Amino acid sequence: MKRVFLIVLDSCGCGEMPDAAKFGDHGVNTIKRISAHPDFSAETTLKMGLGNIPGLDFLGKTDRPTAAVGRMTEASAGKDTTIGHWEIAGVISPKPLPTYPDGFPKEVLDAFSAATGRGVLCNKPYSGTQVLKDYGEEHLKTGDLIVYTSADSVFQIAAHEELVPPELLYDYCRKARAILQGEHGVGRVIARPFLGDSADTFYRTPHRHDFSLLPPKDTLLDAVKAAGKTVYAIGKISDIFAGQGVTEKVFTESNDQGMAYTLEALDKDFEGLCFTNLVDFDMKYGHRRDIPGYAAAYAAFDKWLPGFMEKMTDDDLLMITADHGCDPGYLETTDHTREYTPLFVYGKKVEPYVFGTRPTFSDIAATAADWLGVDFDCPGRSLIGEAVRKETELTNLAIKAMDYAYVPYSGYRVGAALLCKDGTVYTGCNIENASYTPTVCAERTAIFKAVSEGNRDFAMLAVAGGKDGRVEGLFPPCGVCRQVIAEFCGPDFPVLVASGMGGYRRFRFEELLPNGFSPAYMDV
Ligand code: THU
Repeated sequence: MKRVFLIVLDSCGCGEMPDAAKFGDHGVNTIKRISAHPDFSAETTLKMGLGNIPGLDFLGKTDRPTAAVGRMTEASAGKDTTIGHWEIAGVISPKPLPTYPDGFPKEVLDAFSAATGRGVLCNKPYSGTQVLKDYGEEHLKTGDLIVYTSADSVFQIAAHEELVPPELLYDYCRKARAILQGEHGVGRVIARPFLGDSADTFYRTPHRHDFSLLPPKDTLLDAVKAAGKTVYAIGKISDIFAGQGVTEKVFTESNDQGMAYTLEALDKDFEGLCFTNLVDFDMKYGHRRDIPGYAAAYAAFDKWLPGFMEKMTDDDLLMITADHGCDPGYLETTDHTREYTPLFVYGKKVEPYVFGTRPTFSDIAATAADWLGVDFDCPGRSLIGEAVRKETELTNLAIKAMDYAYVPYSGYRVGAALLCKDGTVYTGCNIENASYTPTVCAERTAIFKAVSEGNRDFAMLAVAGGKDGRVEGLFPPCGVCRQVIAEFCGPDFPVLVASGMGGYRRFRFEELLPNGFSPAYMDV
């Protein structure tokens, strides 16, 4: 009875991504920020390997992490909840969801008014309580609807319940949802019913309702459901996916409740995915820039974990991650922050390793599908199979080989590790020379070592390079080395190039040397 428990610590990022500035963020790191507060504690996650995640080593590395750990890059162009969760579930969004700092355009409002027969008030980003004070009375007088937005991709409609009963308001939201597609496909249309008699007494009722955008493609949830398995959504997961692919759901009011439901789910008899979102981190502490609150919430989660892990069976897989950052110490905005996210993959049968930096959150979907034996075509790769583990190991050997580089002239250390089909690994480094031209690159050192020992069946090559002994940027093979690789390897031969950001980029050899000259052109 295979099960995956996927827990999203909403907004718990682990350091700014290289493109953070494009999203208005500088020097952000949610986990680093809260870790400096005395209420932070992370005994369990540190044992799992929190300090082994690139950029978090100041927390203290462990020699033996109990989980497979690393950090995830958001390949999507966004930092919102919806896009983050979609990517976790295997769908990358090349465009951010639209936001409306200057209000919605005329064409949208005209279509909305034509559909509802009502005018529109406000049409600006606004606080949800202030908007009632400033526009509530006019709304009661004219019957026009209060439409407002926020820094998020939302179209919110506030209406007095005695004038517009909630069911009618929901109907208006559905009409708005139908209009807000494509270019104006906002993440959520939100019904905001309220009651009260005047500006001073208006209050929001609990009849809020969200109408989410449908994911543009099938997600992990659809794949698991289609395989006849359970998809149990805890917290706001069902809303984020507009209910698509969800077979059972429960809403929550707090992290504590979310953790309690997740723990209870361990006792349920099901096969499939239990997908939990713990929203307090983001909603109660991140946006409110409350560092002590965030630190204490992390500590509470960390203390809850051992009880959960003890009850897991051998067939259970636990993944803990986040959907974006929301650094509570970043005071330029109260918005989310563009960050890497941590990932822990834990299971009694999962071999721990540090996978460094992965290129997309979608590895999580691929890992879940792999564990459950479900077919799902997505841009990620499974982190529990052999493949990524072997690639990571080979890349680490290439990084180690940099130590032996003989580079008195350039100072650039390069290391290579060549895996042969029989499992042997040959490493190499660059070896420079006072008359420069005899210099041999790391890749060729490794390849020539293999060939000179009778081994020409190559499976994979990893390369790493940089100054001062650190991996920098990408250091791909030079033209001469590519020509030497072409002698022994075909177009699909994988070349891994270690990245200064952690992790590696995987190229097919043909990408590095298209239409190259090879023995195939010779009459041999
Ligand atoms: N180098 C390599 O070892 N491999 C390559 O593919 C690119 C260049 C070395 C040669 C030289 O010692 C140093 O990097 C700077 O060019």
